Amino acid sequence: MRKIRILIPVIVLLVIVGITVQAQNKYIGVKQCSMCHKTEKQGKQFDIWQKSAHANAYKTLATDKSKEIAKAKGITKAASEAVECLECHATPVDAKLADKGYDMKEGVQCETCHGAGSAFKTMNVMKDKAKAVAAGLREFKDNAAIEAYCKTCHNDKSPTYKGFKFDEMWGKIKHPVPKAG
Ligand code: HEC
Ligand code: HEC
Ligand code: HEC
Ligand code: HEC
Repeated sequence: MRKIRILIPVIVLLVIVGITVQAQNKYIGVKQCSMCHKTEKQGKQFDIWQKSAHANAYKTLATDKSKEIAKAKGITKAASEAVECLECHATPVDAKLADKGYDMKEGVQCETCHGAGSAFKTMNVMKDKAKAVAAGLREFKDNAAIEAYCKTCHNDKSPTYKGFKFDEMWGKIKHPVPKAG
């Protein structure tokens, strides 16, 4: 009897772990998203992102300024290897969640904001927002939700933080699909 009482929670736990592992989508990298998101008609999301500071966020960690900031914080590793910096300057994903196209050097990339794409990247899923969200596309209900998400990085834990004006900053990086007609 005692053995069974111990075994049941163990089995339940194993089942839960099994389900979450299966449900964990992989990061596929910017190139794969860009295949369908670079034309004029789609809204050139790739171009807009590539010209934004986010595409350089990882490279920034190799500058002298970054070295100084890291040193002042008592970080002994290179800034580009320190979780204390990578947590906002890249999408440092568990190796198990990195698909072959994924590259941390892409910095703050599509999937950092939209969610790991392995399960929503196909055309029939992407075309149907509800399906895409069910497959892991992050949903932003309104501008307040977008702003809250930006502020998970744009906050005073950033060593160079000088405030965050949402409208202005969103204006610099937004990448809508042009309205037809
Ligand atoms: C096979 C082509 C294809 C690939 C690959 C693809 N997408 Fe899409 N995506 C689409 C299409 C088509 C739409 C619908 C666009 C529209 O509204 O006209 C879309 C819509 C979206 C939307 C808007 C959803 C909404 O309705 O609000 C986001 C965000 C998005 N894609 C992000 C991504 C990301 C991130 C990746 C990479 C992980 C990716 N896409 C890969 C084709 C693709
Ligand atoms: C994962 C963390 C992260 C998230 C989420 C994030 N950012 Fe950033 N953002 C950064 C980092 C890091 C930089 C600095 C990159 C650099 O200069 O190397 C940056 C820089 C920027 C810049 C350029 C700085 C400037 O003053 O022009 C803009 C604009 C910006 N972000 C807007 C946004 C907006 C809008 C959102 C929400 C939709 C957002 N960011 C979400 C990490 C993030
Ligand atoms: C909480 C998120 C966060 C963390 C942690 C973080 N950064 Fe940043 N970093 C940002 C954001 C957002 C920006 C752009 C706007 C700003 O300065 O707040 C940025 C900008 C920068 C810039 C460019 C500033 C400029 O305009 O010249 C440097 C350099 C930098 N970070 C270095 C680092 C280093 C080094 C670390 C680790 C010690 C680090 N950051 C940790 C979010 C973060
Ligand atoms: C800093 C965060 C961030 C990054 C990086 C980012 N996006 Fe977005 N993206 C957003 C937000 C927020 C929205 C608006 C809410 C929404 O439609 O989901 C959006 C909207 C979109 C849309 C829908 C536009 C519309 O009008 O319906 C597409 C498509 C898209 N992004 C694709 C991409 C692709 C592809 C990349 C990489 C090349 C990318 N995004 C990088 C945050 C980001």
